[in-house]
Amino acid sequence: MRHSFRIQFILLVLVCACGVYSANVTIQSNPPINGGFVQTTPQQTVSLTCTVDNSAVAEELQWFRNGQEVSLNDGNRLNTSHVCVEPVTREDSGVIFTCQLRSDASVKASIQLEVQYPPTLGDDEEMWVEEKSDAVLSCDVRAYPPVSVVWKKEDELLDLSTSTYRTSNNGITATLSISNVKQDVHQGVFSCEANSTFSGVTKKSFSITVVDRKMKFPLGPAIAGVVVILLTILLATISRWEKIMKCFKKD
Ligand SMILES: *[C@@H]1O[C@H](CO)[C@@H](O)[C@H](O)[C@H]1NC(C)=O
Ligand SMILES: *[C@@H]1O[C@H](CO)[C@@H](O)[C@H](O)[C@H]1NC(C)=O
Ligand SMILES: *[C@@H]1O[C@H](CO)[C@@H](O)[C@H](O)[C@H]1NC(C)=O
Repeated sequence: MRHSFRIQFILLVLVCACGVYSANVTIQSNPPINGGFVQTTPQQTVSLTCTVDNSAVAEELQWFRNGQEVSLNDGNRLNTSHVCVEPVTREDSGVIFTCQLRSDASVKASIQLEVQYPPTLGDDEEMWVEEKSDAVLSCDVRAYPPVSVVWKKEDELLDLSTSTYRTSNNGITATLSISNVKQDVHQGVFSCEANSTFSGVTKKSFSITVVDRKMKFPLGPAIAGVVVILLTILLATISRWEKIMKCFKKD
C-alpha cells in the first residue's frame, strides 16, 4: 500500500515536470505576422526569428522553406534562430517557413509569405491583321492578389456575347481571340484592363489596322512573270519573222 502510493507520487511529479517544461517554438517577423501571413512586396526584406519557450535545456532549432531544410550557421541554432529573405521576389509568394525542434519535430511553428505585386500586362502593341483572318491579343496578368480583367474597344466594354470574340484567363495570360476580322468592325484600339485591390487599374493597348487580303498578293513576282511571257512571245515573233524573211529571199 505504502509502496504503491510512492510510485503514484513519483508519476505525479514526472507529469507536472513534463507539463511545466513542455517546450514550444514561436516565430516573430519583421514585417509582423498577420493571421499566419507575412505581407510584403518585391525588393523588400523579411526577417524571421524563431525562439524556444519553456525549455529546461538548450534546444537546437531547424528551419524549413517549403519543406526543404535551410542551412544555418553554428551560432544560429540554439534557443533562438534567425532567417532572412532578401530581396523578396515574386517567386517567394506563398512560400511557407517552418521552425521546429531538432529533438521533436512535432514542436513547430509556420508562417506563409504573401508577396503583393501588380500585373505587368506588357508593352502596347501595333498589329496589322488581314481581313477575314483571326487575331489573338494577350496580356500578362500574373499578380498578387489576383486581378480581374476586362476587354475594351475605344474604352467601351466589349460585347462578348457576339460570336466573333472569345476570352480566356488562366491567371498568367489573358487572351482575346477575334475570329473573321472585318475592317469596319475591328479596326481601332483594343485594350485589356486589369483591376487590382493592391495597385488599382492598369491597361495595355492594341492598335489594330485591318489590311486588305489583296495587299498580300506578291506583286513583284507577278510582274516578273508577265514580263517573261511578253519577252517569250516577242522573241518567238522575231524568229518567225526571220523565217518569213528567209522565205521572201528564196523567192
Ligand atoms: C505554443 O505557442 C503557440 C503560439 O504562441 C500557442 O498557440 C500554443 O498554444 C503553444 N503551445 C503550447 C503547448 O504551449
Ligand atoms: C538555452 O536555454 C536554456 C534553457 O532556458 C539555457 O539553459 C541555455 O543556456 C540556453 N542556451 C543558449 C545558447 O542560449
Ligand atoms: C476596381 O475594383 C474595385 C473593387 O473591386 C471597384 O470598386 C472599382 O470600381 C473597380 N474599378 C474599375 C475601374 O473597374
